[in-house]
Amino acid sequence: MSELLNIALPKGRLGEKSYAQFDKIGYSCPEVLENNRKLIFENDDLGVRYFWVKPSDVGKYVERGAADIGVVGKDILLEYRPDVYELFDLGMGKCRMVVAGFAGSNKITKRALRVATSFPNIARDYYSKQSREIDIIKLSGSVEIAPLLKMADVIVDIVETGTTLKENNLEALEDIVEISARLIANKVSFKFKNKKIDEIISKLKSGV
Ligand code: PRP
Repeated sequence: MSELLNIALPKGRLGEKSYAQFDKIGYSCPEVLENNRKLIFENDDLGVRYFWVKPSDVGKYVERGAADIGVVGKDILLEYRPDVYELFDLGMGKCRMVVAGFAGSNKITKRALRVATSFPNIARDYYSKQSREIDIIKLSGSVEIAPLLKMADVIVDIVETGTTLKENNLEALEDIVEISARLIANKVSFKFKNKKIDEIISKLKSGV
């Protein structure tokens, strides 16, 4: 039995797609996709252990070394800034971080712009570069409701297909950054489990 490599996957569609890539390059653990409440799965023969965590927590598990590597959206890296190595872009989970709202709602200048978001650090960074005064309203999800109920002027949020904005008569007003899934590694693991991590990187890059 080789040393186990701990891999944190984000719960949900992105995690399932990521696991499919690991499976394809030979790190299978079929139990991972079983529909039960189990959270940790091991394949001792291959030396891998997968676990499902909340997408926003992946960086934390990797930073603290509970996971050696993990898959995480660039949005989470920008928002939480975990102290990890960002190894490469997996080219999945592509979307955009934008300022959105009703047309013209981003032009308010007489007072602080009220910005509803689940990404306060990304929003603060974006507006501080413009020296723009803002009032952040931190929400945990469904932020599109805030401008509809006139609680916020704009939102800073992720747009994938654009359907949510469209169905609520909102539009993307400013692009902030392109987002996609990244493979990250714990800094110590990257040194001590380098052979295995390198092998995974090269196989994922070539897709075999
Ligand atoms: C995300 C995001 C938008 C929506 C965008 O929400 O916050 O609401 O997806 O996708 P679309 O452009 O394809 O419509 P998610 O479904 O993750 O839930 P949340 O609102 O609770 O964050």
